[in-house]
Amino acid sequence: MSYQYKIDRRAFLKQAGVAAVAGSMAGAGSLKAQQGASRGASAAGYDFDEIYNRIGTNCSKWDGQIERWGEQLKIPMGVADMDFRVAPCITEALRERISHEVYGYMATPDSYHDSIVNWNERRYGTVIERGMLLDSPALLPGLLAALRAFNPPGARVVMQTPGYNGFFSTIRKGFVIEENRLREVNGVYEMDFDDLDRKLAQDDVHTFILCNPHNPVGNCWDRATLTELGELCNRHNVIVLADEIHCDFVNEDREYVPYANLADDLVMNSVTFKSASKSFNLAAFKDAYLFSHNPDLMSRIRAVGDNATINSLGIIASQAALEDGDDWLDAVRVYLSDNARYASDFINERVPHISANEPEGTYLSWLNVEPLIERLGAVETAAAETAAQSPDADEVTPEAIVERYFVENAGVKINPGSSYWGPGRMRMNLGLARPLLEEALGRIEQAARQA
Ligand SMILES: Cc1ncc(COP(=O)(O)O)c(C=O)c1O
Repeated sequence: MSYQYKIDRRAFLKQAGVAAVAGSMAGAGSLKAQQGASRGASAAGYDFDEIYNRIGTNCSKWDGQIERWGEQLKIPMGVADMDFRVAPCITEALRERISHEVYGYMATPDSYHDSIVNWNERRYGTVIERGMLLDSPALLPGLLAALRAFNPPGARVVMQTPGYNGFFSTIRKGFVIEENRLREVNGVYEMDFDDLDRKLAQDDVHTFILCNPHNPVGNCWDRATLTELGELCNRHNVIVLADEIHCDFVNEDREYVPYANLADDLVMNSVTFKSASKSFNLAAFKDAYLFSHNPDLMSRIRAVGDNATINSLGIIASQAALEDGDDWLDAVRVYLSDNARYASDFINERVPHISANEPEGTYLSWLNVEPLIERLGAVETAAAETAAQSPDADEVTPEAIVERYFVENAGVKINPGSSYWGPGRMRMNLGLARPLLEEALGRIEQAARQA
């Protein structure tokens, strides 16, 4: 491992004030989620409250952001992974494998594919036959293969915005983004089917990307919505590409409905993309999969995709997770739900100029910072900074001004909504230990009060 940042871990955390956090947040006692603070932390014997230091491992979330912002950054809440140790079954399986010290070419064992098939059937009642399944080195390369299989170069690809920025960059590799904006009604996002109908009707639209649960707005789409969407896509002969990578994180009061569990005619017009990478925090391994009940769609993807080889250690990690990780996942889900409730209560009760919705799925919170943008004069600052920089540089957005404000004044990094085409919004990652979350929210509160 190359230790790019020579930061002393203990000193760093001490400086961040993390060690003292438990006492410093005593005033948060009125918050509703406080009571359930450690449901997931202790119920199954996993210590998610542990602050597990990732600095010095070249991780994008901590090291990458410290490189960008310097040591003023104390708590990064941007990149969508979690700070917890993985499920013990994963570490055990990897330990066993690395005790054998040869890493030559390997085949993908049937047991890996069986673990995917069994997981989907056991947890969600989704039946995947082995022949319908294709490996993919991470989710986005699989999605790109599907776009290439179903679209001529330059075709429009419909996606919903605000939307995951990885879709933007993937579509742009040869295609054009056609935006179907989600409608926000009283703080709740819903699909705009009239607009979607118009977008899907265009001659050069052949594919629609669905994100369920939705990154970044956090919606977990219900069966009626998915059915209406699917019928519209079928009517226009547009194939649904369902990214369900966040499906294992859904609040206790919501249900994840796999696209592949809808009516047959809808399922036959779709491809689903999944991975154990979000659920078990294995993104670095680069292993994902896709499947469709429609053999024609699968053979068209096979013809263009380079999906033959996936990461061998990732196969071992994912298989262990899918075979033996249920307990850990169920515990971390409870913990993350509590984090989400705690964060939205805290922000809505105590932080001026920002409001938060509790996400229905994902561990990402989507914040409304419009009043803060106004308060900071961020629109004017962004315009002035854009005018002062070279014309080919990316536009500075008001949300980027808010991002910088929180890094500089709170030591906390949250992502600008503009990265997801969500003006006036910020995305906050809640996949971290509760003491750090409390620390971050306290810092955000203070900074917002000073604005
Ligand atoms: C909706 C969604 N799809 C795909 C990805 C990326 O998946 P991968 O790293 O497997 O390409 C992410 C990562 O944040 C995501 O949120």
